[in-house]
Amino acid sequence: MKIRVINGPNLNMLGIREPEVYGNTGYKDLCEMIGKHAKEKGIEVEILQSNHEGDLVEMIQGAYRWDDAIIINPGAYTHTSIAILDAAKAVGLPVVEVHISDVTKREEFRQISYIRQACVHTIMGHGLNGYTEAMDYLIEYCNKP
Ligand code: DQA
Repeated sequence: MKIRVINGPNLNMLGIREPEVYGNTGYKDLCEMIGKHAKEKGIEVEILQSNHEGDLVEMIQGAYRWDDAIIINPGAYTHTSIAILDAAKAVGLPVVEVHISDVTKREEFRQISYIRQACVHTIMGHGLNGYTEAMDYLIEYCNKP
């Protein structure tokens, strides 16, 4: 099984950006944590990050016929991007939306998620563990008869 993990804008700044919201762990450590979990579960992961909306669309499209599932944290594009939603719908793969923070407890402008329509599950407010929880969810989801 192959999962593509896609992170949007400013997630490369983890550990530096607003540590009171996103914690002190850096992006490299997050990637290592995901890689270690994948190894333990016997699956493959590819971890990608971009600060650009079009790149994120291409990263989603690139999973078509290549990956079994997608985990995505689109960052601020969660709340604005119909193009990212359309890409997720286009590939037709199971997608889990992850947010490190609990966006439901934050500003009004974060209350809309376009991508959610194309997702089989959303995990938010579980910090970086949300990514490994999303992996476990998709392993079970994809192995369901
Ligand atoms: C985020 C929440 C978004 O509102 C924000 O723009 C981010 C990160 C999260 O992981 O909690 O960049 O997706």
